[in-house]
Amino acid sequence: MIPELSNPSVCMKDPERVKEILESMVKAGSNTVQVISDFDMTLTRFAHNGKRCPTCHNILDNSMLITEECKVKLKDLLNKYYPIEIDCTRSIAEKLPLMVEWWTQAHELLVKQDIRKDKLAIVVRQSEAMLREGYQLFFDHLHEHSIPLLIFSAGIGDVLEEVIRQAGVFHPNVKVFSNYMDFDECGVLKAFKGVLIHIYNKREGALLNTGHFQELRTRPNVVLMGDSLGDLTMADGVQDMENILKIGFLNDKVEERKQSYLDAYDIVLIKDETLVVPNAVLLYLTGNK
Ligand code: TMP
Ligand code: MG
Repeated sequence: MIPELSNPSVCMKDPERVKEILESMVKAGSNTVQVISDFDMTLTRFAHNGKRCPTCHNILDNSMLITEECKVKLKDLLNKYYPIEIDCTRSIAEKLPLMVEWWTQAHELLVKQDIRKDKLAIVVRQSEAMLREGYQLFFDHLHEHSIPLLIFSAGIGDVLEEVIRQAGVFHPNVKVFSNYMDFDECGVLKAFKGVLIHIYNKREGALLNTGHFQELRTRPNVVLMGDSLGDLTMADGVQDMENILKIGFLNDKVEERKQSYLDAYDIVLIKDETLVVPNAVLLYLTGNK
């Protein structure tokens, strides 16, 4: 039904179930569909030519806006906490407080750096951030078909928006939930706004934004895309959900994590740096138009 689902990167625990979900969504029509996607390592690449690509945080961490001393501290945090993030021998309950520690410490360090709002566009332009291959079709297709795209990120909203703006795909159908910077009257970072979003509290983040999901209540069919098991709760605010198709990118520690990803996501994409499969699914849902 979708030839790309036979690509070598694709793994599914229950292909029949995927077929049922897709058929049910096609029947309901693309005007009942909404897409909810994570950002870092889901819409952006994990690696390119063997080199890791940056997350929103890393774009700042590696930039000229941060002192060398602070870079070392942020790198130490990454080296300490990233292995915990992807450690499948620890439960989410065990990892959650450690992730809060990571985000809190990283944001405290960033806030001390006098980061200027007007420099963000420059550091994003100079960075090695890369959206996955096929991003243009992904964003343009959703826009053309008026399908709402919620980007739900534990990264930094201001940086994320700049990445998609510079790529020319920040269309009006895109909405972002993320951690936004709070600047003082001189345009200098002084804090982060609102409730912190980290990788394991996206459910709470979703429930704080009931207004958004209320507006989309005529779209009970959800395509969810993520790269972490924490991303699975991004759709918890959706009202009267009828179907959800979960697409998960498994980028790192593949063998150790494969079974848990197969149990949690309907379609698992293994070391696939492209949006070829999500695009094929979305084209199918819009009648290949
Ligand atoms: P996401 O929800 O858009 O994927 O963003 C979360 C990612 O950000 C997660 O994979 C960890 C990463 N991260 C950093 O790279 N550096 C940091 O300092 C922090 C707090 C998170
Ligand atoms: Mg991610």
